[in-house]
Amino acid sequence: KKILFVASEAVPFIKTGGLADVVGALPKCFDKNEYDVRVIIPKYMCMKEEYKNQLQYVTHFYMDIGYRREYVGIMQMVYEGIQYYFIDNEYYFSGYQPYGDIRFDIEKFSYFSKAALSILPVIDFRPDLIHCHDWQTGLVPVFLKDRFQDGPFYQGIKTVMTIHNLKFQGTWDIKTIRDLTGLPAYYFTPDKLESYKDGNLLKGGLVYADAITTVSNTYAEEIKTEFYGEKLDGLMRARANDLRGIVNGIDYGEWNPETDQLIAKNYNAKTFRKEKVKNKIELQRELGLNQDPKAMMIGIVSRLTDQKGFDLIAYVMDELCQDNIQLVVLGTGEEQYENMFRHFAWKYQGKVSANIFYDNAMSHKIYASCDAFLMPSLFEPCGLSQLMSLRYGTIPIVRETGGLKDTVEPYNEYESTGTGFSFTNYNAHEMLATVRYAEAVYYDRKREWNKLIDRAMAKDFSWGNSAKQYEEMYNWLIG
Ligand code: ADP
Ligand code: GLC
Repeated sequence: KKILFVASEAVPFIKTGGLADVVGALPKCFDKNEYDVRVIIPKYMCMKEEYKNQLQYVTHFYMDIGYRREYVGIMQMVYEGIQYYFIDNEYYFSGYQPYGDIRFDIEKFSYFSKAALSILPVIDFRPDLIHCHDWQTGLVPVFLKDRFQDGPFYQGIKTVMTIHNLKFQGTWDIKTIRDLTGLPAYYFTPDKLESYKDGNLLKGGLVYADAITTVSNTYAEEIKTEFYGEKLDGLMRARANDLRGIVNGIDYGEWNPETDQLIAKNYNAKTFRKEKVKNKIELQRELGLNQDPKAMMIGIVSRLTDQKGFDLIAYVMDELCQDNIQLVVLGTGEEQYENMFRHFAWKYQGKVSANIFYDNAMSHKIYASCDAFLMPSLFEPCGLSQLMSLRYGTIPIVRETGGLKDTVEPYNEYESTGTGFSFTNYNAHEMLATVRYAEAVYYDRKREWNKLIDRAMAKDFSWGNSAKQYEEMYNWLIG
């Protein structure tokens, strides 16, 4: 069976968030005898040089879209056994980041979605199923139904739309989207691409895909409600029969404390009691924190947006810093949160470290070094950081929402079960109380804490199970 992934990012080529981890890891996990899985992503100028230089030119042609005629270059590379194709167009993909101005992004990914379909006959790959990811590829099922419905090549290709984050939908006024896509007025009604008077690219995918998935069971339920539904909860309820949650995994090859080349000291489930702390000591030195192997170190690696619950942290940060803890932050995003952490790093020197940039190597060090990992998200479709933390024996402290709820089992001190700490309400003091509970276990019941680590590291969040669920869904759709 032939499966095509179309997405806007993939590890190791380009990454801004968890989407790239998923698209980079999942294709490798299907049964190679049964599935030929290939991936199409844009060839961004800002992608890592070492890979950019390895791409091979295949061919190019010109494609009509809306009022424009655009160059479509095809590059290719096989990476870890997976065939990748890159759509090359300097006008669209030369920014120093994959995304920026939303108006231009809509134009860019309308182009990309159509180009992804257009190259298929050229590369002589007719997929049985196209798996689309997030709003950037929402138009793929729409273009497939529209322009390509007559050509025999495209007939009968199934589509899956995976929601990694319902908050981002790619919306703009209808007239502009019509101009940019060349799609006729027929599509811009409230039962199709129109949403609250605007055009909505993700909605196109959600209406036209044969099946919809999202990245955890709880989020699949949540998005049918008004609070989490981002104004598409009605559509989610209407398509409830075609909507399911399949929880993400992480790449256990890349994220492995036993073999990780990016961390100071390797360890595993047997040796962490002695070895893990060496990573903490090294990170304290590197970041200029107080040299104290006993101090509980709490990590944050995140896009700094309100999705991730930073309002709660801002609210109780001074109180939290009265405790005997260290806080290490790695992230970029909204200026208010960047500045907040810079401020607290200045105010609590030696205790708080603010690293306001993107750095994959440092993220590995934080997962390996910290005792706990804080992720009090307002909403979280799946979340990968807590899975990475569990893998490294770093105990997650999370709010019970979306994938956080599905992957972190709350500590029960009476039964000695659980892999982390969690709280229910989006409330700063509820979070603080939970962090302090974790502190109490860490400082006063070390054996209990170590058993938490035992259980966390014993969990299996590799892709195996979830890949099987995707396979079942593909088989069912392809028939
Ligand atoms: P989201 O996709 O919403 O950002 P996830 O938890 O699914 O959240 O995935 C985030 C991914 O991005 C993780 O792999 C995390 O380690 C990584 N990440 C986030 N911010 C940074 C950063 N500043 N430096 C390095 N890695 C980061
Ligand atoms: C999104 C979500 C995150 C999820 C990731 C990968 O960025 O915010 O929760 O883990 O996609 O699916």
